[in-house]
Amino acid sequence: MEIGKKPNIPVKLLPSSSFWPFMTLLLAFLLFLSGTTSAFAAGDHHNAFKPTDQILIDCGSKSSSAKTPDGRVFKSDQEMVQYIEAKEDIQVSTPPSDNVSSPIYLTARIFLEGATYKFHLAHAGWHWVRLHFSPFPNDKFDLQQATFSVLTEKYVLLHNFKFSNNNNSQAFLQKEYLLNITDPLFSLRFNPMKDSAAFINAIEIVSAPDELISDSGTSLFPVIGFKGLSDYAYQSVYRINVGGPLITPKNDTLGRTWTTDKEYLQDQNLAKDVKTTTSAIKYPEGLTPLIAPQTVYATAAEMADSHTINPNFNVTWNFPSNPSFNYLVRLHFCDIVSKSMNDLYFNVYVNGKTAISGLDLSSVTGDLGTPYYKDIIVNSTLMSPQLQVQIGPMGEDTGSRNAILNGVEVLKMSNLVNSLDGEFGVDGRTIGMGKHGMVATAGFVMMFGAFIGLGAMVYRWKKRPQDWQKRNSFSSWLLPIHAGDSTFMTSKAGGSQKSSFYNSTLGLGRYFSLAELQEATKNFDASQIIGVGGFGNVYIGTIDDGTKVAVKRGNPQSEQGITEFQTEIQMLSKLRHRHLVSLIGYCDENTEMILVYEYMSNGPFRDHIYGKNLPPLSWKQRLEICIGAARGLHYLHTGTAQGIIHRDVKTTNILLDDAFVAKVADFGLSKDVAFGQNHVSTAVKGSFGYLDPEYFRRQQLTDKSDVYSFGVVLLEALCARPAINPQLPREQVNLAEWAMQWKRKGLLEKVIDPHLAGTVNPESMKKFAEAAEKCLADYGVDRPTMGDVLWNLEYALQLQEAFSQGKAEENENEKSVAAGPGPEPAAPPSAVVAPSTPLAVSDRPVSLPDENGGPAEVQAMDEHSGTAVFTQFANLNGR
Ligand SMILES: *[C@@H]1O[C@H](CO)[C@@H](O)[C@H](O)[C@H]1NC(C)=O
Ligand SMILES: *[C@@H]1O[C@H](CO)[C@@H](O)[C@H](O)[C@H]1NC(C)=O
Repeated sequence: MEIGKKPNIPVKLLPSSSFWPFMTLLLAFLLFLSGTTSAFAAGDHHNAFKPTDQILIDCGSKSSSAKTPDGRVFKSDQEMVQYIEAKEDIQVSTPPSDNVSSPIYLTARIFLEGATYKFHLAHAGWHWVRLHFSPFPNDKFDLQQATFSVLTEKYVLLHNFKFSNNNNSQAFLQKEYLLNITDPLFSLRFNPMKDSAAFINAIEIVSAPDELISDSGTSLFPVIGFKGLSDYAYQSVYRINVGGPLITPKNDTLGRTWTTDKEYLQDQNLAKDVKTTTSAIKYPEGLTPLIAPQTVYATAAEMADSHTINPNFNVTWNFPSNPSFNYLVRLHFCDIVSKSMNDLYFNVYVNGKTAISGLDLSSVTGDLGTPYYKDIIVNSTLMSPQLQVQIGPMGEDTGSRNAILNGVEVLKMSNLVNSLDGEFGVDGRTIGMGKHGMVATAGFVMMFGAFIGLGAMVYRWKKRPQDWQKRNSFSSWLLPIHAGDSTFMTSKAGGSQKSSFYNSTLGLGRYFSLAELQEATKNFDASQIIGVGGFGNVYIGTIDDGTKVAVKRGNPQSEQGITEFQTEIQMLSKLRHRHLVSLIGYCDENTEMILVYEYMSNGPFRDHIYGKNLPPLSWKQRLEICIGAARGLHYLHTGTAQGIIHRDVKTTNILLDDAFVAKVADFGLSKDVAFGQNHVSTAVKGSFGYLDPEYFRRQQLTDKSDVYSFGVVLLEALCARPAINPQLPREQVNLAEWAMQWKRKGLLEKVIDPHLAGTVNPESMKKFAEAAEKCLADYGVDRPTMGDVLWNLEYALQLQEAFSQGKAEENENEKSVAAGPGPEPAAPPSAVVAPSTPLAVSDRPVSLPDENGGPAEVQAMDEHSGTAVFTQFANLNGR
C-alpha cells in the first residue's frame, strides 16, 4: 500500500466527555487482568517477586488471550477498546509460522493518527514498560516504514522510530524501559509522523521492586559518589550473562532476558568461560536474586591462560551506544574462581577510565561465591559510539593475575528534557536549540555539577598541560587563547579593576550592564533559553533598539573562567569577519561572565540538512553555506597574526542568519573542559566523529585538524546524516569512513541525500567529494589548507551554476518544442536561476512528480512531510 493513502476504515472516536464513565469498567477489567495472569514463573525461587501491576496486552488480537511459550498470558486489547483513545486504527494479523516465536507477534494494531492507551496502575514506583514490535507484511500498511514516536505523560520513549532503521536481523524487537510511575493513570501515546502510521504488537507494564534502582551509584570520572538515580527514566539496552547461557524470562526472577556476551567480546581468545553450580551462590545480606538470579552469578568470564603464564592484558567488551546520552552500567561480580580469600585483585575500566581499582571481591563481600554489583554512571562527555567495559589484572604483583566479570547491564538514562530517544521532550523542549537557532550541547555538567559541586572543574582547570596553553583556540571562553599575554587582565573578578580593563580594551565591543541584559532576557527567564551549554545557558534577548541578540551567560558560581573570559572577549572582538558570528559586547558586572553575540535566526546548518524536517536545502545553497564556513575558517587560520584553530568544527557550529549566510560559531564545547582530564580528551568528546585521527595519535592540534573536521561537515552536507550514527550497522556508523568507502568504489552518488537526486551536476559533486576526501587524509600534511578547500568549493559552485542554467534552458526549450512554434528565445538564465530561499520551486528535485511545480508542491513540504514524500528515494542512501 502506498504511504499517505489511508484505507477507509471505521473511525472509533472517543470523545473525552464519554471517557470517564468507563473508568469503573476499566478498573474492573484491569483487576480481572491482574487476577488471572500468573505471577512470574520463577517458581523455584523463594523470594520470587509478585508484581502488583502486571498488565500484558496483545495488541490487535481478535481472540481474547494469547499464551507465550514462557507461559505468560497476554490479553487482547480489543477488550479494552474503550481505553484506547484512537481516531483511526486497524487490526492486522499474519498467519502463524515456524519463524514466529510467540503469538503476540502475530497481531498488531496500527494507528493512522495519534492514539493513547491508558492503564490504571495499583502501585506507584518502578515499572517495566516493554514494547514489542514485529512489522509483519500485511495489506494495510508497510510497517517496516512506519515512523512514529511513543510518549508517556513525562517521557519520550521513542522518537521518530522506524523499525527498518534498527540494525536488527530479527523479525521483531522488544524495547524495555524502567520508569518510576507515580500517576495511577498511566498513558502510552503513539504519534505517527505525518502520512505515516504507528503500530504495536504487544505491551507489558509490570511492577519492578523498588530496590532494583538505588538512588546512589558511582560516577565514572572522577570516581565519586553520585546521587539521584531515582530521578531518571531508563531504557535497558543490554543485559548480559557474561560467560554463561541465555536466560529467558521464565528463568529469571523478574521475567528479564539475559543474553550471552560473545558478540560483544572484542577478542574471544582472551576470555575463558567459568562456571559453578547455582547452589554455590550465597547472596549476602541486603542482596537478593531480584537484582540478578543465581544463574548470572554462577557463570563468568575470566582471563584466558590466567593459570599458566603471567598474563598482562585486558578482556574487553564493546557495546554500541548513543554518545549523546548518559548511561548507567551495572556490573555484576561473584568470585567463583578463587581457591582462597584475598587472592584475586583486579581492575575494571569503563570507556578507558578506571571504574574500580584493585577490586577484591572476597573482602568486599566477606566470602567467596558471594554476589556483588556496582552501578557506574557514565556521563555523555565520556561516551563514544561504543561503551567499553574492560577487566584486567592489577599492575602490582598481588595474588593471582586474573580478573572476572559475571554480568553487565547497560541502561540508557533519560536526558535533560526527559527523553530516552532524540533531543525533544514531551513538552516540546529541546536540548541544544529551540526554534530560535542557537547551538549547545546537553548540560549534564550543570546537572552533575549540582551533585558534586563545581570544585572538580577548578581542579582540572589548573592541571592543563603547559603546552596546550601556547596554542590558540577560538573555542570557548573556558579555553585560553593567550594571544597577547601581556595585554589581558588577570584580575579575579571584574569589580574594582574594571576601569583599567576598559581602558586597555578599546574596541572590545559594547559593555552591557547586568540590568540591561536582565531586561533584554526577561531576567534570564527559562522561556528565553535557546541553548544549554555545559558552562551555562544561551538566551535570546532583545536590546534597546529591538535588535535580537544571543546572550551566553556563564555560571555565576564558577570563578575560574574569569581570565579566559576576558581573553576571549579580547580575541573575539579582534575577529571581525562576515563568516564568523560576531561578538556584540559583554558584561562582567558582579563576577558575571556574559557574552552578547549576534543572533542567527536560521540556527545551525545541521538542522537544515537532517533531523529537523526543515525544507531541504538545494545543492547550490549547501555549496554556498560550505563556502561561507570555509571562508570563516580560512580567516581564522590566516587572517590573524598568530593563527587560530577553531578546534570544534561541526555542522552545529555553523550558524545561518536570516539570509542563510553561514557563520562559524561555537557555543557548545565548554562542557567538556570540566570533565576532560586534559585538552585531548576534552576535544575527543566535544566532536566525536569529526576528530582528526592524527590528533588522536600525536595529541597535537594544528589547523589541519580543523580541515579534517571540515571534511566531515562536507560529507554531512552531501549525505544528510550525522557524523556518527550509532543506530546504523557497524560499517555505517562513522560517516567519514562509510562515505569514503563509497567514494573509493566510485559510487558516492549511491549515498547522497535523496533530496539532491537529479539536481546536482555530477561534475560539481565530484569536485566537492574530492575536496572532502582530501580534507580527510590520514596525515595533516596531506590535507589541503582551508584556502585550497575554499578554491575547490568555489569551483564546484561554478560548475553547478553552469549546470542549472543549462538545465533551465533545456527545460525552456522542451516546453517550446512541446507547445509547437512558441515564443522565443528561451527565457534568460537569470530569470530561472533558483532564488536562494529554501522553498524555491526550482530547487525541487527534478525527479519528483512535478508537473506544474505549483504552490501545492511547495506546501507539501511542511515540517513533517519531508520523509514521506521522498520515501521513494530511501533505498538510495541506506538510512
Ligand atoms: C518515584 O518518584 C517519586 C516522585 O519523584 C519519589 O517520591 C519516589 O521515591 C520514587 N520512587 C522510587 C522507588 O524511587
Ligand atoms: C587495560 O585498559 C586500560 C584502560 O583502557 C588501560 O589503561 C590499561 O593499560 C590496560 N591494561 C593492559 C594490561 O593492557
